[in-house]
Amino acid sequence: MKRLRIALTKGRLEKGTVEMFRKMGLNCDEIDNKGRRLILPVGDYDIVLAKAADVITYIENGVCDVGIVGKDTIEESNRHFYEIMDLGIGKCKFALAAPKGSNFYAGFSVKCVASKYPEIARRFFAQKAMDVKIIKIEGSVELAPLLGLADGIVDIVESGKTLVENGLEVVEDIMPISARVIVNLASMKLRKNEIDGLVKGLEKVTASEE
Ligand code: PRP
Repeated sequence: MKRLRIALTKGRLEKGTVEMFRKMGLNCDEIDNKGRRLILPVGDYDIVLAKAADVITYIENGVCDVGIVGKDTIEESNRHFYEIMDLGIGKCKFALAAPKGSNFYAGFSVKCVASKYPEIARRFFAQKAMDVKIIKIEGSVELAPLLGLADGIVDIVESGKTLVENGLEVVEDIMPISARVIVNLASMKLRKNEIDGLVKGLEKVTASEE
């Protein structure tokens, strides 16, 4: 049987997740010295390093069994897989932010909101029954209000530093974000024991850090 494949989001979540693998007693030498390789053996698992949105694509299509990805990407994706565990790392939040002192909700004009996460933004305002125009931006969403493109932004806030340094402030929190473990629908049935074993190992590490 092929080894269990875990798709791991490159970048911010990568370090924290590998640290968890290490604490589980898995040999992480290959990933520590990965060079430019993208599939690395770690203990009994094969780790596939991928961009967040691609982690979800690999899990949904069954080419990887388990994925580690931020709740932000999961919420924006609206796709089919199991979400089975909160790893408690990569903590941040989605928030609505606007230029400091601008009073985003004032007035009756239809507001314009920029976001890299239009689906999250759409749901947030739909829940308020508020009609807004949403503009999709690919990076540095904070620029949109500065350039006069939008009245506010829906974006990830971690330390809040980016907002402060660009004269913006949180208007309202939308939802907390952290790294989650997701599983392909078929793998959950066919490889249940291995997945249970992985989750138990990860749970031991999160419990010891609480
Ligand atoms: C996120 C987000 C903000 C920043 C917030 O971007 O879009 O720009 O982090 O962090 P802070 O509250 O600690 O300042 P990220 O760095 O992930 O880059 P990205 O634009 O590639 O998403």
